[in-house]
Amino acid sequence: MLLEVKDLTIEFHDHDSPEKVVKDVDFSLDKGEILGIVGESGSGKSMTAMAIAGLLPRKKLKTFGSIFFERKDLLKIPRSELRGLQGDEISVIFQEPMTALNPTMKIGKQVEESLFIHHKDMSDGDRKKVALKWLENVEMDDPARVYDAYPHELSGGMRQRVMIAAAMVSEPKLLIADEPTTALDVTVQAEIIKLLLKINELSKVAVLFISHDLSLIRQISHNVMVMQNGVIVEKGDTDMIFESPKEEYTKRLIAAIPEVRL
Ligand SMILES: Nc1ncnc2c1ncn2[C@@H]1O[C@H](COP(=O)(O)OP(=O)(O)OP(=O)(O)O)[C@@H](O)[C@H]1O
Ligand SMILES: [Mg+2]
Repeated sequence: MLLEVKDLTIEFHDHDSPEKVVKDVDFSLDKGEILGIVGESGSGKSMTAMAIAGLLPRKKLKTFGSIFFERKDLLKIPRSELRGLQGDEISVIFQEPMTALNPTMKIGKQVEESLFIHHKDMSDGDRKKVALKWLENVEMDDPARVYDAYPHELSGGMRQRVMIAAAMVSEPKLLIADEPTTALDVTVQAEIIKLLLKINELSKVAVLFISHDLSLIRQISHNVMVMQNGVIVEKGDTDMIFESPKEEYTKRLIAAIPEVRL
């Protein structure tokens, strides 16, 4: 078991009375597994992901329960130990690749960044080799040219590939992808999904794939978890969920998928 989330509850504390936005969430993720989290806007998908990534602001939000990553509770380990895992063993990619990239820094340096932080002993040459290898793995036609390019010189789809390369250079065990294709058009979305599947095969990275798009979730996930109002409505094997959903809410979500996309 790579990840085990137990009774995860997240409360917002910026109003008079605390508001629970994630309630007693339980799930686990095996090495190499792709788990899709689906649910309407505001259901708590991103909050759950951010808690696992250790990216929730601690002042406004209180977190309860446990998040075991390789049996270490991420909610209990010292801040320094958590920082050692972030961007190294646990990587995150977000929806908007432009805002996540620094416009003034060449792509190559940004792809290498986590190696700089976590693998200081590597030589510059070795770091570049790894970065170029990952730019190739994400199917850049000309990795050497992209390495020396700036973000504005790339299309949205290419920038998201760069983000995936940057997330993967450290060979993480867990990749958290929060709506990674939502800002892209449909054909590019399909390419990114194919790419993530290839990378999952290649490196055996476990993926937490978040989307409100059920057809994407179906294409990529081994298992699916459906969320609504901060709770898990239903979870299980992808084919089981799509072919014989048990809960009314899941049935309604599936009924609402446009046929043409399946
Ligand atoms: N600053 C805040 N104060 C209070 N509640 C907030 C705040 N930010 C987010 N929330 C609430 O937390 C809940 C969960 O939000 P979350 O971002 O996890 O949803 P989501 O499932 O990722 O939705 P989306 O599909 O829109 O990304 C929502 O109900 C949202 O209104
Ligand atoms: Mg979200």
